[in-house]
Order: sequence, then structure tokens, then C-alpha cells
Amino acid sequence: MLKLLLKVEFNVLLSESMIVCLCKGVSSHMVRDVIEDGADSVEAVGSACGAGTDCGGCTGQIEDMVEEVHGTEGCRRHLRVVAA
Ligand code: FES
Repeated sequence: MLKLLLKVEFNVLLSESMIVCLCKGVSSHMVRDVIEDGADSVEAVGSACGAGTDCGGCTGQIEDMVEEVHGTEGCRRHLRVVAA
């Protein structure tokens, strides 16, 4: 049982400190912080912490994180702004 709990805790720590954006060295923790502070699009996250502003390889993951916090409305709002 203890071994299972340690494994779960280790996996939680890993996922909390995972690097999302390799180009800018931004962790998932930092991305989540800026999203929770109001960044509701990939571009807003990039403006706040730099993630997703180089090769773009992490933008899908950032978009997923935005949707987790703000739902799809945040991404739809951004799409309307871009389409306007
Ligand atoms: S990995 Fe994030 S911009 Fe390249």
C-alpha cells in the first residue's frame, strides 16, 4: 500500500513539474498559473510566460490546458477574435 501511495505521489509531482514548452523552458505549473490568472488562449499564455511563442510544438498542449480551466468557451472566444 505504501509503495502504491509513493508511486502515485511521485507521478503527481512529475506531472505538476513537467516542462510543457521546451523552447522557452516553461513548466506545466507555470502555464497553469497564468491560465488560472486569466489567460484564456494560447496567445495570452504566450504573452504572459512565453510558452508557445517559438516553434509552436507545444501549442496543442497549451490549448488543452486552457480548455481544462476555461472550457471550450475560452478557445472559441479567441477564434472569434482571430476570425474578425
Ligand atoms: S516547445 Fe513551446 S514553442 Fe517550441
